[in-house]
Amino acid sequence: GKRIGILTSGGDCAGLNAVIRAVVHRAVLTYGWQVLGIKEGTQGLLQRPVQYQVLDLPQVDGNMMRMGGTILGTTNRGDPFAYPMADGTQKDRSDEIIGGYRELGLDALIGIGGDGSFAILKKLADKGGFQMVGIPKTIDNDLGLTEVSVGYDTAVGVAVEALDRLQPTAASHARVMVLEVMGRDAGHIALAAGIAGGADVVLIPEIAYSIEKIAQKIKQVRSTGRNFALVVVSEAVKTVDGTGVQKLFQGGQKRYGGIGDYIGEKIAEATGAETRVTVLGHVQRGSMPSPRDRLVASAFGVHAVDLIAEGKFDRMVAWSDRGVIDVPITEAIAKYACVELDGAMVKTARGLGISLGD
Ligand code: F6P
Repeated sequence: GKRIGILTSGGDCAGLNAVIRAVVHRAVLTYGWQVLGIKEGTQGLLQRPVQYQVLDLPQVDGNMMRMGGTILGTTNRGDPFAYPMADGTQKDRSDEIIGGYRELGLDALIGIGGDGSFAILKKLADKGGFQMVGIPKTIDNDLGLTEVSVGYDTAVGVAVEALDRLQPTAASHARVMVLEVMGRDAGHIALAAGIAGGADVVLIPEIAYSIEKIAQKIKQVRSTGRNFALVVVSEAVKTVDGTGVQKLFQGGQKRYGGIGDYIGEKIAEATGAETRVTVLGHVQRGSMPSPRDRLVASAFGVHAVDLIAEGKFDRMVAWSDRGVIDVPITEAIAKYACVELDGAMVKTARGLGISLGD
């Protein structure tokens, strides 16, 4: 039987443990293989002794599919080809990682990650070190060639729940509520949550907005007799003059909330409305996975193991047309997926009368 490794890499999201569980179930029950969980992404392969744990059915059964986070830990620390050392220099440590893979006697590695992690794993594979398969995860849902990535549905669910909770307090106080949601460079979470959560305005980085247009929409809402409004702002939106105030670095710490506060202030100035701003932040990542994310995670995990069984490597599993397919991982890395301006979500939002700020 084979021995396969699995690691989680990059920012966590809901559904990672569900992927791990599915991989172990398929590998152990269908093929009788051994699965080793590598700790903290490629970091585990860098350390000596290599940091891992054997994953058998008892380790993944029971509660694990329901748990947020990743039992393996994760990291976005450092490209092993230019690894940041303590003295401030960078070092190519790729051979050490490949050495870790060999030390464990792995036949293949499943990487659960985003484009950044995939690029690194592919580069390691190209060095002749690895046989790898990728499983896409990101709450941002901006990976190309897959309709969904693990974690996205849950993040949207959390944002919608936030709007559900903001609506009654908005109405009670006749306020404009601004909700800032995540999405490093793409507006998928904001747009989906705005549609499903009944927002009046949704600002996404793909569409340039003007405060005037936002104010117009809020005035139109008021003219119908409604005393409150809900505004969703993606964290990746910039200020009107193009400078980003989001993700300010203060004392080395990333601080969220810049752009939501900015938009809230501008709306107050332009409309006279009382505004309040909520920054959702990492709450969107830590939830129990939604049923949809558990389903996607399970289907991806099973298919990834099957790819290894068939000897198909350098592939990413993907969701397409009601099913699971696999695509060349290099093509997936190269195809960034932001919100399509002529796509169904933008059309739906506009069709509902949601202002996209333009
Ligand atoms: O890519 C996922 C994501 O949650 C983005 O939505 C967000 O911009 C970023 O990661 C946050 O990164 P960190 O966890 O390093 O603060």
